[in-house]
Amino acid sequence: MKTKVPFFDLSAQFKSIKEEIQSALDEVFQTQQFILGPHVKALEEKIAQYCRTRYAIGVASGSDALLLSLMALGIGAGDEVLLPSFTFFATAGSVSRLGSIPVFVDIDPGTYNIDPAKIEEKITSRTKAIIPVHLFGQCADMNPIIEIAKRKHLSVIEDAAQALGAEYKPKSRSEGHLAGQMGDLGCFSFYPTKNLGAFGDAGMVVTDQSVLADRVRLLRVHGSQTKYYHQSIGINSRLDTLQAAILIVKLKYLEKWTSERQKKAQRYQLLFQDLLSSVNGIKLPVIQYQNRHIFHQYVIRVPERDRLRQFLTEEGIGTDTYYPLPLHLQECYSFLKYSRGDLPNSEKASEEVLALPIYPELTEDQQILVVERIKAFYKH
Ligand SMILES: Cc1ncc(COP(=O)(O)O)c(C=O)c1O
Repeated sequence: MKTKVPFFDLSAQFKSIKEEIQSALDEVFQTQQFILGPHVKALEEKIAQYCRTRYAIGVASGSDALLLSLMALGIGAGDEVLLPSFTFFATAGSVSRLGSIPVFVDIDPGTYNIDPAKIEEKITSRTKAIIPVHLFGQCADMNPIIEIAKRKHLSVIEDAAQALGAEYKPKSRSEGHLAGQMGDLGCFSFYPTKNLGAFGDAGMVVTDQSVLADRVRLLRVHGSQTKYYHQSIGINSRLDTLQAAILIVKLKYLEKWTSERQKKAQRYQLLFQDLLSSVNGIKLPVIQYQNRHIFHQYVIRVPERDRLRQFLTEEGIGTDTYYPLPLHLQECYSFLKYSRGDLPNSEKASEEVLALPIYPELTEDQQILVVERIKAFYKH
């Protein structure tokens, strides 16, 4: 079966900016400076400006952004860090790499983000930080999270890997806050399929606090300011200069691409209307408050998810399941002794979610086909 609607397609986007990318790469080739340098610095300044933060520090990946943020806060062996169970593995993996313990919190079933009402019961004397994840491109409910963190003297690291440009706007008239701007540190991923994707791995940490910015900057170069002299034990995690040159070109288009994604989301919303009343259990993405959702993913809930997914694959329509097994039930975390039933909203979401194709170049005909085939499945 020929793929009619790929789940993701980067080639159309590349075609539209190919010359610009090639000349940006040529510029780096001319200088032969491949580690840090002016391109990385320029990207850091642009991302800081875009996120309205004072500092941005380029690192090798979103996973390293999380790891370096935890290291900068001095989080280590035996410390506990609260985070949602329904997220990509890196959110918890970075905590475990440092000998710290991830403590899994259940999610809000509407937004899939960490449920602030379930945070406080998990705090102990060993808790040091909370990592809310802005999943699928919508900010977690940050006001209550920050209020708890302040009261309990905890740090907040935003995992904004999927949410560059998303805005948290709990009140209609006031100005919103951008993803990455609200916690002590914010972490971004430029993994190729992200809304702003590099041609390989890359990431960024943003913060308003100069002490933390300096720590991350030091730790990403083995804790060394002067060559071969090491103040701290860091890691090698710099944002690659070629990736920075590519990202500078692509950042110019991010707002346009985001608004295209939002239009596709609105179109899905319209196309799905009649199915919502005829099939029980189908749910479309929920936008909380007046948030600016950047639709990194368009994730619906459906009954018989695995059968539907199989049917769509046979029909040439790509989908994905983010995430099929919540983190508290992963084999590598069996030593933490969680059981099925402990975090019911995360477990239910992992059985029901289905991510549909969404990217700026997705056509109206393709979207009509996706929805029409889903309708056909439920008519069987
Ligand atoms: C929520 C979340 N956190 C962390 C990461 C890690 O980012 P990276 O793949 O750039 O290491 C990702 C992306 O893959 C992610 O989606």
